[in-house]
Amino acid sequence: MDIAVIGTGQIGGTLTRRLSQLGHKVFIANSRGPASLAELAAETGATAVSVHEAARSGEIVFVTIPMWRISELPKNLFEGVDPDVVIVDTGNYYPRERDGRIDEIEDGMAESRWVANQLGRPVLKAVNTLHWRSLLEAGKTAGTAGRIALPVAGDEAAQKAKVIRLFDGLGFDGIDAGRLDQSWRQQPGTPVYAANLDVDGARRALTEASPERRSEFRAAPNSRLGKPV
Ligand SMILES: NC(=O)c1ccc[n+]([C@@H]2O[C@H](COP(=O)([O-])OP(=O)(O)OC[C@H]3O[C@@H](n4cnc5c(N)ncnc54)[C@H](OP(=O)(O)O)[C@@H]3O)[C@@H](O)[C@H]2O)c1
Repeated sequence: MDIAVIGTGQIGGTLTRRLSQLGHKVFIANSRGPASLAELAAETGATAVSVHEAARSGEIVFVTIPMWRISELPKNLFEGVDPDVVIVDTGNYYPRERDGRIDEIEDGMAESRWVANQLGRPVLKAVNTLHWRSLLEAGKTAGTAGRIALPVAGDEAAQKAKVIRLFDGLGFDGIDAGRLDQSWRQQPGTPVYAANLDVDGARRALTEASPERRSEFRAAPNSRLGKPV
């Protein structure tokens, strides 16, 4: 499958490596342009492109950049892109460590709803619960006890099914985690987050989540966008 990865850091770089190994044709983009991606391209066989081209290069497009930098992406990035193209947001909002304050999220909007609003396109929220090292090393064949489950939230069932199939190839059990506005159930600080649970455990954890953000996952009073304090 043709897959694009916008952002090639810990998660995007790992996705590029793993998906390329599985035989997918991967297109990669970052903020500094294709020339800066020569090494990763040579290592993996991925094709380095601009962010604009990446948005037009995959059946699935992973957007995997820090939340505060989402607003830097070109306006109308996905204009004219086929609505069947699946956009996956892997993002997590870390106001105190990295992202600074995003008012709508502080006021209760699901993080990935905010991303969808910024992009002007529906997204799925997935991969956000998994540490990059687990993505690299913890995949297991289907049916193995303890196989990690990855919640996939979003409003399009067919798109979720497609991503869940992709995750199976990566060694993880994707599970339908409901609609995008319910995706607070898998945000930082929830029971499923970074817990590496199996399907039963992850389903239980999603039901046990609370919509209240814990204080350590809220902005400090003097935080500004892109400025933790
Ligand atoms: N690290 C994890 O284990 C993990 C796990 C789950 C979810 N997440 C979430 O996934 C997202 C990505 O995390 P990460 O740890 O992979 O980040 P990271 O290692 O800091 O890498 C960020 C990547 O985003 C690119 N980028 C930044 N601004 C961009 C822009 N305007 N246009 C295009 N590319 C841009 C950077 O490219 P340049 O270097 O060229 O700027 C870099 O390749 C975050 O929201 C994070 O919270 C991370």
